Amino acid sequence: MRQSSLVVVANRLPIDDSMAPDGACEWRRSPGGLVSALHPLLRHTPATWVGWAGGTGPAPALPDVDGVRMHTVALSADDLRDHYEGFANATLWPLYHDSVEQPEYHRRWWEAYQRVNQRFAEATADVAEPGAVVWVQDYHLQLVPGLLRQLRPDLRIGFFLHVPFPPPELFMQLPRRAELLRGMLGADLVGFQRSQAAHNFAQLVAKVLDVPATDRRIAVDDRVVRIGAFPVSIDTVEMAALATRPDVADRAARLRHDLGSPEQVILSVDRMDYTKGIEQRLKAYSELIADGHVKVRDTVLVQVAVPSRERVGQYQILRERVEREVGRINGEFGRVGEPAIHYLTQPFDRAELAALYRVADVMAVTPLRDGMNLVAKEYVAARVDDTGALLLSEFAGAAAELPQAYLVNPHDLEGLKQGLLAALRAGPDDLGARMRAMRAHLHRHDIRAWARSYLSALDDSGSLLTRLSAAD
Ligand code: ADP
Ligand code: G6P
Repeated sequence: MRQSSLVVVANRLPIDDSMAPDGACEWRRSPGGLVSALHPLLRHTPATWVGWAGGTGPAPALPDVDGVRMHTVALSADDLRDHYEGFANATLWPLYHDSVEQPEYHRRWWEAYQRVNQRFAEATADVAEPGAVVWVQDYHLQLVPGLLRQLRPDLRIGFFLHVPFPPPELFMQLPRRAELLRGMLGADLVGFQRSQAAHNFAQLVAKVLDVPATDRRIAVDDRVVRIGAFPVSIDTVEMAALATRPDVADRAARLRHDLGSPEQVILSVDRMDYTKGIEQRLKAYSELIADGHVKVRDTVLVQVAVPSRERVGQYQILRERVEREVGRINGEFGRVGEPAIHYLTQPFDRAELAALYRVADVMAVTPLRDGMNLVAKEYVAARVDDTGALLLSEFAGAAAELPQAYLVNPHDLEGLKQGLLAALRAGPDDLGARMRAMRAHLHRHDIRAWARSYLSALDDSGSLLTRLSAAD
C-alpha cells in the first residue's frame, strides 16, 4: 500500500460517477462546498484523499486526480441508507441546521455511523505514512479522529466541520451526544466556520463530558486539543480568471439573450436542500410580481437547484414543493416564451457557472442556515468589474465576512422582499463600493489563506505548509 504524508478524509471523493449521455459511466467533479473548497488546494500536492465514490458495492479503483491519489471506501446499500442518508443526513444535518426540518433518531442508524467511521479510520491508518498529517472533514466522520488516534497515535490529526455546530440546547437532543464529542476530541485541532460554533462545542464538552474547556483549548486525557474558527473560502483568483475568459463572456452574453434580454437577472444556485430557503425566496419573488413591484418582462429569476440526497424523504418532499411552486408562478405570471422563473436542475461545469454569475445582476443567496455558502463567495469573485448585488442571508456563515452584501433574514418575508427590491434598485456607485470591498476581502481570505491558517495551527513543525506552498 502506497502511503502519503498528507491524507484528507472526507465522506465524498472530489469526483462522482455519473451517466454520460450515451449511457456510459463517466467521472466528474462532485457539486458541494467541501469538494469546491479542497479541490483547488490539493491539486498538484502529493496527497491521498480517502472517501466514498458515490455508489454501493465494491470500491472502484480510481486513477489519481490532478496528482492526488483517490483511496475509495466502499459503502454497502445498508451503509448508504443508514449512515449517509440516515444518521448523517436525516439526523445530524437537520439538527446542525437549526432543526429547520425534524431530525430523526434511530439506533440502527447510529450503529451504521459507528461501523462506517471505523472503516474510514482503518482505511486512513493504511494510507498514512508514519507521522503524517491527517485532515478529517465534516459531520459524516465525527468519530474518525478518536478511532484513528487509537489505531495510529503517531499521526497529527485535524478535524474541520463545514456545517454549523449547533447551540447546546439543540445538540443535547442527540442520544449519543457524548460519543460524538469524544470522537471529535481525538483530533489535535478541531476547526469550525465561526467562533460561535467553537464556543458551542466548548460549552458542550464541559457540560456533557465534565471536562474543563475554553473556546481555544481543551485538556483531555494527557493531551491538549485546540479549537478555533477558520472560515472556509474559495479559489478567488481562479474564479476571477474564469469569469474574464473571452469564451465565458460570450457565453454570458448568449445567456442574457436567451433569457429574453431582460433589464435585470436574479440568480440563485443551490443544492436542492431545505436549508437553502428556496421556497421562501420563490414566495418573495412571486409576491413582488403580484404586488406590481417587479415586471416579468424586465426582471427574470434563474433558479439552479441541483438535486441532492434524492432518496431522503425530506428532500423528495422539498423537490416536489419547489417544482409545484415554480409551476404555479410560471403558470400565473409567465407568458409564452417568457417564463417568470427559469428553473434548472443540471450540474454545470465551472465555466458555465462563471457565465451565470456574470449574467446575474442580483445574486440571491438566502439560506435559512448555512455553515458558509461558497456560492456567495464565487459570485463576488466573478464580478471582476465591480457590478452586481449580493443578497445574502444573515444566517449564512459568509455574512460575517461580507457585511457589504444586502443582508436579509429569510424567515421575514417582508424583509426578504424589501432586500430584493433594494438590491434590484441600487445605483452603480453604491454597488461598486460594496462589491470592491467584498472582492478585496476575498482576495486576502481565499482558499489558500484558509488552508495556511488551519494547517499552520495543526502542524507546528511547518513542514507541510512549506510543501503546499512549493506546489502552488
Ligand atoms: P453546500 O456546501 O451546501 O452545497 P455551498 O454554496 O457552500 O453549498 O457550495 C456549493 C458548491 O457546489 C459551490 O462551489 C457551487 O459552485 C457548486 N454547485 C452548486 N450548484 C452546482 C451545479 N448546478 N453545478 C455544479 N456545481 C454546483
Ligand atoms: C455540504 C457538506 C459536504 C457535502 C456537500 C454535498 O457541503 O458540508 O460534506 O459533501 O454538502 O452533499 P453530498 O451529500 O452530496 O455529499
